[in-house]
Amino acid sequence: TIPVIAIDGPSASGKGTVAQRVADKLGFHYLDSGALYRIVAYAGKQYNIAWNQGETLAEMAAKLEIRFEDGQIYLNGNIITEEVRSEEISRGASEVAVHPAVRTALLALQHSFRQAPGLVADGRDMATVVFPDAIAKVYLTASAEVRAERRYKQLKEKEIHANLQDILQDLRNRDTRDQQRATAPLQKTDDAMLLVTDQLSIDQAVEKVLQHYRQ
Ligand code: CDP
Repeated sequence: TIPVIAIDGPSASGKGTVAQRVADKLGFHYLDSGALYRIVAYAGKQYNIAWNQGETLAEMAAKLEIRFEDGQIYLNGNIITEEVRSEEISRGASEVAVHPAVRTALLALQHSFRQAPGLVADGRDMATVVFPDAIAKVYLTASAEVRAERRYKQLKEKEIHANLQDILQDLRNRDTRDQQRATAPLQKTDDAMLLVTDQLSIDQAVEKVLQHYRQ
C-alpha cells in the first residue's frame, strides 16, 4: 500500500508549511485538505448556495473540477489561490466543514491524492477519518499565543493591518469550533506523535516528522 503521513492540528499551527516541506524532502505528493473546504465555501458563494445548506453544497462539491498545480489552486479552470485565503472564505470554510454531507462528498477526492510514491496529508481529520491507516501520524500544535504571534507576523509582512488580541480571540473561536463539531472533530489519536512547536523552528519540526516516519 502507498504510505501516507497524516498531519493534523489546529489553525495556524504551521502544519501546512511543515507538511509541504516533508513532502518535498521525500518526493511525496501533498494534500492540503483545508483548501478543499475553502474551495467549497468559495464555490457556494459563487453559485449562491448558503454555507448552511449542507446537502446542496455537497451535491455542488461532487461536481467541482479542482486541481492543485505549481502552487496554484484551480477551480473549474480558474486560479483562485488568493481568493480562498481571504478572511471571509476562511470563515465560510469553517462553516461548510460542519456538514457531514460535505465531508462525505470530499472523501473520494481526498483518497485520490494517495499516489505513489506516497502522500503527506494535512488537516483536522487525516488520521481519524480520511487516512486511518496512515503509516505515520502527527498531531502538530502550539499554544494559542504562539500561533497568534505567528499569524500576526505573517500579516504584518504582507502589510495587512491586524490586532494581536483579535487574532488570538479568533484562533480560540476556531479551536472551539474544530474541537466541538459533531462530525470529525479535531483530536489527537493515541497512535499519533504529539509535536508541540512553541520552541521549534520549521526545520526542526520537519526533522521530527521525518524521524517519526523513518522509525
Ligand atoms: O488552518 P486554517 O484554519 O487557517 O485553515 P485550513 O487548514 O485551510 O482549514 C480551513 C477550514 O477547514 C478550517 O475551519 C477547518 O476547520 C476546516 N477543515 C476541516 O474541517 N477538515 C480538514 N481536514 C481540514 C480543514
